[in-house]
Amino acid sequence: MKIILKIVELQAILAVEKQKNKLIGFVPTMGALHCGHLALVEQAVAENDISIVSIFVNPTQFNDPNDLVSYPRTLEADCALLEPTGNAYVFAPPVEEIYPEPDMRQFGFGTLETVMEGRFRPGHFNGVAQVVSRLFDIVQPDRAYFGEKDFQQLAIIRALVRQLELPVEIVSHPIVREADGLAMSSRNTRLTSEQRKNAAIISQTLFAGREKKNRLPVGELKREVVEKINAVPELQVEYFDLVDGDNLQSVHDWSDSQYIVGCIAVYAGDVRLIDNLRF
Ligand code: PAF
Repeated sequence: MKIILKIVELQAILAVEKQKNKLIGFVPTMGALHCGHLALVEQAVAENDISIVSIFVNPTQFNDPNDLVSYPRTLEADCALLEPTGNAYVFAPPVEEIYPEPDMRQFGFGTLETVMEGRFRPGHFNGVAQVVSRLFDIVQPDRAYFGEKDFQQLAIIRALVRQLELPVEIVSHPIVREADGLAMSSRNTRLTSEQRKNAAIISQTLFAGREKKNRLPVGELKREVVEKINAVPELQVEYFDLVDGDNLQSVHDWSDSQYIVGCIAVYAGDVRLIDNLRF
């Protein structure tokens, strides 16, 4: 597996591969890789001739500067995890390579970006759109792989691809969970052992809540989920919503949509965790 830091070097390699009509699978990441990422990489390796993983902690998508500073950076360990997957290239550019000048582009995703994460993390999805469009421009992949844990991000990236008419297929992969149900996340490493134990209650409450679909009114079920999680030490729900999985707007009745997803963001101490479950 080759590690590449420079765009020109990556593009020279890719030009040769593309001439041979090789299918390129791309997994954009911010590093601190875990089994959730590895599942994406394994799928990319299996479905394409060549796979590329980018590792780039994108400053423009952090609305909280402390979050950017404390985001784990573990390139060496990440490469060790990637080595056995059969992934061909790791693209790990420095910030100046991706943003030689500040990126002033403003994207618009309408009501997809004003709810949930977009409401609590202003500017976040614009930053995601900036970096993903830049990376797609550099790599020109045939397929790109994203995890369903970032459910709203996936909807935004699909919208971005439609808006820019990019010739890339977006492939999603289901959430990978720890044995106790906690959604795998790079942020989990920042939890204290007590927080880590309690964080499992988030998904457990979602799964238990799903059992009550159609038995409790939507509003009551939402209140119950929030109250249960907030009763756990150090857990504080930022939002929990039941939304239509395509347009991400809140449902008010179970009959409002055939595709309802429960989306949640919870602080465990100062670590912000997200999760979602199809209801
Ligand atoms: O999901 C992530 O890790 C990031 O938001 C992404 C898509 C790699 C863009 O920086």
